[in-house]
Amino acid sequence: MRSKANALKESGIKVINFAAGELSFDACQDMKAGAIDAINGARNRYTPPIGLPQLRTRLAQHVSQRCGVPFAANEVAVTAGAKQALYNTAMVLLNPGDEVIIPTPYWETAPTQVVLAGAIPVFVDTKADDYRLTCKAVERALTPRTKMILINTPNNPTGTVYQREQLRLIAQLAFDHQLWVVFDECYRKLVRRPHEHHNIVSLFPALKNQTVLVDSFSKSQAVTGWRVGYACAPAEVIAAMHNLQGHTTSNPSSLAQYAALNTLIADSPHFGHQVNVFLDEQLLAACTCLGYVDGITCAPPEGAFYLFIDVSRKLGCRYLGTKIRDVDHLADLLLTEAHIAVVPGSGCGDPHSIRISYAVEREELIEGLTRFGQFMSEVVAD
Ligand SMILES: Cc1ncc(COP(=O)(O)O)c(C=O)c1O
Repeated sequence: MRSKANALKESGIKVINFAAGELSFDACQDMKAGAIDAINGARNRYTPPIGLPQLRTRLAQHVSQRCGVPFAANEVAVTAGAKQALYNTAMVLLNPGDEVIIPTPYWETAPTQVVLAGAIPVFVDTKADDYRLTCKAVERALTPRTKMILINTPNNPTGTVYQREQLRLIAQLAFDHQLWVVFDECYRKLVRRPHEHHNIVSLFPALKNQTVLVDSFSKSQAVTGWRVGYACAPAEVIAAMHNLQGHTTSNPSSLAQYAALNTLIADSPHFGHQVNVFLDEQLLAACTCLGYVDGITCAPPEGAFYLFIDVSRKLGCRYLGTKIRDVDHLADLLLTEAHIAVVPGSGCGDPHSIRISYAVEREELIEGLTRFGQFMSEVVAD
């Protein structure tokens, strides 16, 4: 979608890009200051493969504080974004033939990493349960080969946030069956009021020894390109990640690490607050625009910055005489006819939905959703 949208843009067409998974903000000031100091201080050399000791110590303190469960520095690995933390996790914990429960819809990298590790993704559809994994659904999917459950909250692509009790029940089940839980909370700071993010270890401390927490600076500090995130896991898992990372990428960028350290030291709520106020307003505006569009429904937009829109009633219908074959075709038509780029849900395991990001400039949001509404109003039953 991105390359198709860029090709249209290059031909002079104004394309509104709802497909990006990042904020339209400049980077958080504390990240910038930390990186600039690191450049001026000539911090140009390799760091240890899984991060600066002082950053691992800070992260351990920070995670201990927010979870209310103690973590030590040797239980933290700094990685090139959450993506590397998740990849390392798959590589060090999964064996060929292991099964991993992945709630559908999913972030499209999740099953691919599992497959790269030789393991088997077991998809569990969450749509009927308000886009959240339930214990009943997990129980139905369990086999003797089940090794791991992946939870992502706030969720990409749906925007849903898991509630406290749901997480507690999943934690109990994982604990009883000795399953690993990979808890991807890289959107944890981006939650719409009055919803709250909950951490699974904080809710169920006994699960700490079978959990990998994954977090990132990418989304919350608007530095997706800088590549810095981290994993928290039992020390032996982190030691294995150290070996793996030491022979693959080595350390994440030293500059991004110093930036992250500076941000943790500053510990300012200012940027996060500003972003969430912006996203609250954006969501309100988006919902107002979408309220005029018939025949669509949306997953509960509680966090991250995505709207996951069910367009199943439009599939098989006609737009100006052209039959909309499937959700990929719809996304293509939205791009070529309405000049808006969206993510088709087919890549996220839901071929009935599209994902749009509302973390774009306000005027673009309104204009893009107006074009979306106009397009949809011209879609008629076959
Ligand atoms: C659910 C989820 N996890 C992890 C990532 C990876 O983020 P990063 O590697 O930029 O930290 C993303 C990025 O889009 C995501 O949506």
